[in-house]
Amino acid sequence: MKKVIIDVDTGVDDALAILYAVQSEQLDILGITAVSGNVPLEQVTINTNRMLNLIGINDKITVYKGASRPLLREPFHEFRVHGEDGIGGALDHIDMEIPENEVFAADFIIEQAKKHKGELTLIMVGPLTNLALAIRKEPRLAEWVKDVVIMGGIVESAGRGNTLPTSEFNIFADPESAKIVFHSGLEMTLVSLDVTRKVMLMEEHINELEGTKYFDFVKNSTGIYRNFSAGLYGINGCALHDPLAVGVALDKSFVKTEKYYVDVETKSDLSYGQTIVDFRGLLKKEPNVNICTDVDHERFLKMFLDCLKK
Ligand code: BDR
Ligand code: CA
Repeated sequence: MKKVIIDVDTGVDDALAILYAVQSEQLDILGITAVSGNVPLEQVTINTNRMLNLIGINDKITVYKGASRPLLREPFHEFRVHGEDGIGGALDHIDMEIPENEVFAADFIIEQAKKHKGELTLIMVGPLTNLALAIRKEPRLAEWVKDVVIMGGIVESAGRGNTLPTSEFNIFADPESAKIVFHSGLEMTLVSLDVTRKVMLMEEHINELEGTKYFDFVKNSTGIYRNFSAGLYGINGCALHDPLAVGVALDKSFVKTEKYYVDVETKSDLSYGQTIVDFRGLLKKEPNVNICTDVDHERFLKMFLDCLKK
């Protein structure tokens, strides 16, 4: 089984990503690290622990709290899509004490990377603050970690960002950390909005889950998100951004990738957090990031739903 750490800002699609990762039964999840993002860190920690409780594995997987704010910028959250509690109110019924542990997320990443040299995959589905802190503290991380799958950015932006016209949320929420990560020398694949928007969980997919354990959760948690999409694009569905990153960690053949030099804009107000890809090699820099150019969305969706039905 592939050893992974999942870094989350839970978040509706983060919760679905955790559920999919567990249900795949193909990943050895060493721990889950939490970061401020969709909602503040305390709420991310509550949502993530409650999600593990819903799945029934909170005694097996520990949640490690990480950065409570981005490296330099002010915190920025996304309540419009995920609701005030980040999970569309779908885990309110889970009454549990939230465990506290002393190990900081970035330290947990370093410790596990050192212990499992050449074996660890990091699945990053929130702002990249925890990983940037880990890189700054332990520069050998790039030698130790096998690879990193990042949900973030938009490659062919053309004004189709989801936070600024050319910026995607996870990168916009901490662009300075993303810059550190992109230039770290780590082997990485960026699963950007270009491909995650092609994997839409529609009402009819959710209805396929009727009668299975997670039907109510999937239906309820995605309600606000689907209403938001309906208002914006007339589609009653939610993009499976974070689950696709788990999918790529499980099976790279879900996507086509190409390697280019990628950087992040950190100075402009207009395009703060934009991911810039040097497709034509104009900057004469060494390619550093594998970007996804296409996705087999039908095969991915089938596998995702099959896992949730188990
Ligand atoms: C990303 O931003 C968050 O709102 C989602 O959880 C996902 O990780 C999509 O832009
Ligand atoms: Ca997320």
